[in-house]
Amino acid sequence: MRHKVTIVGSGNVGATTAHWIAAKELADIVLIDIVEGFPQGKGLDMLEAMPIERCNYNILGTNDYADTAKSDIVVITAGIPRKAGMTRDDLLHTNHKIMNEVVANVVQYSPNCILIVVSNPLDAMAQAAYKMSGFSRERVIGMAGVLDSARFRTFVAQELNVSVENVNAFVLGGHGETMVPLPRYCTVAGIPVLEFMSQATLDRIVQRTREGGAEIVKYLKTGSAHYAPAAAATEMVEAIIRDKRKILPCSAYLNGEYGIHGLFVGVPVKLGVKGIDQIIEIELTAEEKVALDKSAAAVKELVTVINV
Ligand code: NAI
Ligand code: 2OP
Repeated sequence: MRHKVTIVGSGNVGATTAHWIAAKELADIVLIDIVEGFPQGKGLDMLEAMPIERCNYNILGTNDYADTAKSDIVVITAGIPRKAGMTRDDLLHTNHKIMNEVVANVVQYSPNCILIVVSNPLDAMAQAAYKMSGFSRERVIGMAGVLDSARFRTFVAQELNVSVENVNAFVLGGHGETMVPLPRYCTVAGIPVLEFMSQATLDRIVQRTREGGAEIVKYLKTGSAHYAPAAAATEMVEAIIRDKRKILPCSAYLNGEYGIHGLFVGVPVKLGVKGIDQIIEIELTAEEKVALDKSAAAVKELVTVINV
């Protein structure tokens, strides 16, 4: 069965997500944006690569939501990105307005889709999309933990000069400076990471992970990361389309899990064809729980400002 994935926002993250999805032959793709000609140009350019890649999926660029009808998954990347000197939270009001407009259109044409939210500030935007859509919490998922964990894994692998495939790690909490990398659950070929490096080195890697987004913004100056974010969104799309039941750290609406109520926060979830199959609750130490609560409080502050 062919699937249909719409990507809203054809900028850096949106177009790169389309590229990864096409390369993995996951679905027909619709790229939509408010800028006329922009998604059409990117979509056609990518489509013309398909004969070379021997990929039979269709890629359509459009400004018309009618073309997105009956999508299985909609990835929302519309919004403004950070520039040098900005935090993710500086994007709040502009992106909230965009999110409301986008979600209203998406729900009208794809009432049964699964929403993957990417726009920042991530957890607050996921909460806005959840409230605006009226979807069940299983069908609204925020992308951040896969990216933050990938950064953590990259830095550990670099430090040890081992394959990134050997490194498992995950990051909980909101997508911001208060995110909670969990070194206790970081392993290298199944072996706890502290067998390989000192606590001081690990602390340095944890801090670099927290600042991973800012590190890229500092280099790019006029935009933010998009290759790794797009790969992260694609991993989530693939888990859903292929009903993998894969456990990934994602932002999910918590209803008492981890003692958090009515808020999107990053936690491990099992992703399958219906979206979130299960929210996985793991034991946290007292220190980790304090860090998670602090991160949830930062998300709460933002959702209170936009009243969602
Ligand atoms: P970009 O500026 O390259 O692309 C954004 C696109 O959204 C533009 O093409 C713009 O025309 C479009 N857009 C704006 N308003 C729209 C509307 N109402 N309807 C449809 N399209 C609209 O930005 P980039 O780098 O692609 O980032 C997109 C968002 O994703 C930003 O908010 C950024 O902060 C966020 N982001 C989140 C990450 C995460 O881990 N959750 C990682 C990377 C980026
Ligand atoms: C990142 O972490 C900008 O949130 C984005 O790169």
